[in-house]
Formats: sequence, structure tokens, C-alpha cells
Amino acid sequence: MPAPSPQPPSSTGSPAVKTNGRVAVPLRTVDQVELRQLREDDLAAVERVSEQVFLEPGESARPPHIIQAWIGWARHLLTVDPAGCWIAVDASGIKGFALSQNRDDFWYLATYGVLPELRGTGIGKQLLDTVLAYAGERPGMFSSTTHPAATRRYRLAGFSLIPQMRMIGAVDRSTIPAITGLTEGDESDFGWMDELDTRLRGAGHGPDHAFLLTTQRLVVDRPHRGYVYIDQRARPSLLAATDAQTAQTLLWEALAASSDDTLVNCITSANEWAVDVGMAARLNLATEGYLAVRGLPAPAPYLPGGRFL
Ligand SMILES: CC(C)(COP(=O)(O)OP(=O)(O)OC[C@H]1O[C@@H](n2cnc3c(N)ncnc32)[C@H](O)[C@@H]1OP(=O)(O)O)[C@@H](O)C(=O)NCCC(=O)NCCS
Repeated sequence: MPAPSPQPPSSTGSPAVKTNGRVAVPLRTVDQVELRQLREDDLAAVERVSEQVFLEPGESARPPHIIQAWIGWARHLLTVDPAGCWIAVDASGIKGFALSQNRDDFWYLATYGVLPELRGTGIGKQLLDTVLAYAGERPGMFSSTTHPAATRRYRLAGFSLIPQMRMIGAVDRSTIPAITGLTEGDESDFGWMDELDTRLRGAGHGPDHAFLLTTQRLVVDRPHRGYVYIDQRARPSLLAATDAQTAQTLLWEALAASSDDTLVNCITSANEWAVDVGMAARLNLATEGYLAVRGLPAPAPYLPGGRFL
């Protein structure tokens, strides 16, 4: 059952200009903005705001199927744990959002953003403080951009920022080894998968497994206990295993499923087993953002999904 809703911190407004280290960040008073819990009838609008928050210059707008997938994912979060899902609104609509979830003794931030024109006015802090109040003392994890306001907010909230790597490129198919011992997973695997999650990050994914299975392929190593979800673009999206060798076999299976360029992300240095697979497959390694954690070390062997940590 979801815990009772936290009360948002009071809106205090901001000074006109504030100097922040080497960066002068103009701040405006935005006392008309209020925080409230997300509702079902907000989903389409919050998706539109999310696109404005995350669309990079030159990037194309989200196609309809991606919009629907985003809404379906947000609806899942809202259904399972509505008290973790908050938005900032004024008379003209939604200005920011922080969607988070408690899963037993674990908390994750699924997505978080404020419209560009309102950043630096304290809305992001109020949203994060609100969902962190809901998290309580739970250990937590999420994948972070390098946006300076985001990293500032996260570190000030006590999260360790662990650099992440990503691997991209076309798999050299001549490098793919013979893969044995894997099968397609189903609901009957969720019990041991949740036990594995609990060993690796303190809690099972619980209802997130059932949601992932509706849209993604699940491949499991039952004897050795490991699993990987492979998304609709044939990319690994969440991988957990008992040992590095099992994790490598699962990652090879995901790479073997790819048809053109692939992407493996959210790789911390605790997961060099994944880098070794990527090097063997002739993928290109780069850095990308941080895994933000508190109350637990970076899990391994484990590749979190950006959406399901
Ligand atoms: C991260 C984000 C949600 C924060 O929202 P916000 O409303 O801008 O946050 P706040 O105004 O409450 O706080 C931002 C803090 O960063 C500081 N800041 C803002 N812009 C900055 C910059 N360019 N460089 C350094 N610090 C900056 C502000 O001064 C403030 O710190 P302070 O409260 O100690 O003065 C928002 O900036 C955003 O949507 N970023 C793009 C999307 C993103 O990266 N989301 C995070 C995904 S993990």
C-alpha cells in the first residue's frame, strides 16, 4: 500500500539575483506555482512537458508510439505508487514534475524536470524535497544527467554521483560467442528475480517486472540466476545476475539480438564485466551522466534501466 502523501515544502519565493559560485543564476519569484500529486487526467499534459524538458536542440519531436509508451509508463508509476508522483502547476498548466516510487525499502526517481524558462527559481528543489520526504530514510538510486542544476540538487540532497559509461555502435557479429543455457522468461521467474534484485539493490522490482514484461523481451538464466530485459529497439534495458560470468552471457544475448546500432548504458566502474563484453564486440565506450545512489553501493553485476532502476 502506498504510504501517506508528504506535504510539499512551503513556497518561499526567491531573491531576484543570486550568485552561485562562479555562475550567476538569475532567480525570479514564482509564488503562483503550487505542488500537487499527479493525476490520471494530467498524464497527456505531463508527457508534453517532459518532451520540452528533455528535447535536445536538433532532436526530432517524439513520434506517437513513443508518446504513448511514455504515458503508459507514467500511468504504471501512478497506479503503483501515486504518492511518489508530483507536479508543479500554475494557472496555465504543468511547469515541472518529479515521478518517484517506493518499492519496499528502496526508492527511485523515475523522471524529474522543470520547463527551461522557469529553471533556477526553486521549483526543482521543492519537487525534489517533496519526493525525498516521501522516500524517508530509504536507500535510493537514479540515473542522472550532467545538467548542473540537477547534479547540484542531487549532491545537496546527499546522493553520491558515480560516473556512468555507455557503449554504442554496431556489434561486430563475428565476435559473438556461442550462447547456451538461456531461455525466455515469464511470470514464473519473478520470485527469484525479486530475490536477486533484493541482494543487489535492497528490494525487488515487484510490479515493475510485470509492467516490463508487457513491452519487452525477458531472457533468463534460471540455473545461474540472472535476467535481462531487451527493449523494442533490441537494446538491453535492465540486467541483473548472480555473478559476472552470467551477466556477460546475458549481455552477449542482448547484443546478438541487435540489428543495427546498439546502446548499452548506465555502466558504472563496478560493472567492468560489461565493458569487457563491449570491447570484445567492438562497441565504442563513452561517459554519460551519473548513477546517483544513497544508502547503498553501485550494484553489481547489474545494469539499471534509465526508467526502472
Ligand atoms: C534539474 C532541474 C529539474 C532542477 O530544477 P530547477 O527548478 O532549475 O531547480 P532549482 O531552481 O530548485 O535549483 C537549481 C539549483 O542549481 C543552481 N543552478 C541552476 N542553473 C545552474 C547552472 N547552469 N550552473 C550551476 N548551478 C545552477 C541554482 O542556483 C540552484 O541552486 P541553489 O538553490 O543552491 O541556488 C531542472 O534544472 C531541469 O529540468 N533540468 C533539465 C532536465 C534534467 O536534467 N533533469 C534531471 C534528470 S536526472
